[in-house]
Amino acid sequence: MSAPLLELRDVTAELPVEGELRPVLRGVGFSLARGEVLGVVGESGSGKSMLARAILRTLPDGARCGGEVLLDGVDLLSLGGAALREVRAQRIGMVFQDPRAFVDPLWRAGAYVTEPLRVNHRLGREEARAQALRLFGDVGIVEPERVFRAYPHELSGGMLQRVAIAGALATDPDLLIADEPTTALDVTIQAEIMAVVQELSRTRGMATIFVSHDLDLAAMVCDRVLVVYAGAVMVEQPTARLLEAPSHPYARALLDARPRVDARLPRMQTVPGQPASAVRAPEGCPFHPRCAYAVDRCRTAALTPQEVRPGEVTTCVRLQAGELPTLKETRAIVV
Ligand SMILES: Nc1ncnc2c1ncn2[C@@H]1O[C@H](COP(=O)(O)OP(=O)(O)O)[C@@H](O)[C@H]1O
Ligand SMILES: [Mg+2]
Repeated sequence: MSAPLLELRDVTAELPVEGELRPVLRGVGFSLARGEVLGVVGESGSGKSMLARAILRTLPDGARCGGEVLLDGVDLLSLGGAALREVRAQRIGMVFQDPRAFVDPLWRAGAYVTEPLRVNHRLGREEARAQALRLFGDVGIVEPERVFRAYPHELSGGMLQRVAIAGALATDPDLLIADEPTTALDVTIQAEIMAVVQELSRTRGMATIFVSHDLDLAAMVCDRVLVVYAGAVMVEQPTARLLEAPSHPYARALLDARPRVDARLPRMQTVPGQPASAVRAPEGCPFHPRCAYAVDRCRTAALTPQEVRPGEVTTCVRLQAGELPTLKETRAIVV
């Protein structure tokens, strides 16, 4: 196997909350190969955006970060300002939840692609324009010329997100980080945008981190999924395995909370109990107060990821000890 493009080792982050540094990321580790699409899934407040921002080194002011974020073996956490700006400009593309929050209403859509091309790749005006129109085509914009000249308010949310993706791809990045890129969009548009991201990852050999609170959506496009809770990776599994035999009670609960077509069973939309905020997580396994399988030692045992099968890493001490051969659907128990 070739060396991973991206590897996180024991990444921690602390943020100042009410005058005190509190953990938001707890020992996050994973690796990502070129061409692979990795999902990061968890409830709101679980630290998904902080994880994306730790990789880009754009955590809020006063944050403290530890561990290593290796991009082709180079630790981004130890880079100086100029080298870091270069990596961000040339090697990593970023797409956010609400495209309107990130566009300047006075810029025409085309500029989101031509600017990075002209600044970072030093292309001339005409060359940049031609390249932008090609990229608009790649992201499924059917009237690239019209969209190129349009102002943001003249475009729908879905169209604007396609423009934002084209902008993120302009410098042909090795890594794309998409943080809830479709959350602000209609369901039908979501699937179209996701198909674009997946296709581009494959054809360009680009590694993609897809952040979402929606496990179904992540499962549609990701090869592998990390399920995060309270700033920690609870389980990492290939997508098909995760759906079939999740290796963590929290992942089981997320699966069971999905809306179902089959209405014979009572329908539950959420995992029971309050999500633990990353900054106020309990001792031991942070999920233990909501876990149908928790025993005494879950309250105290340190969170230690362990590979239980090839490519399958869990922090659940009971699964690690082989005490839970199969996690049954919790629906029947908790309703
Ligand atoms: N600027 C900030 N200062 C302090 N805490 C923050 C800040 N932004 C987010 N948090 C806290 O960090 C945790 C993780 O947030 P976030 O990564 O945005 O979650 P997610 O993206 O999974 O919804 C949450 O508990 C949130 O309240
Ligand atoms: Mg977020």
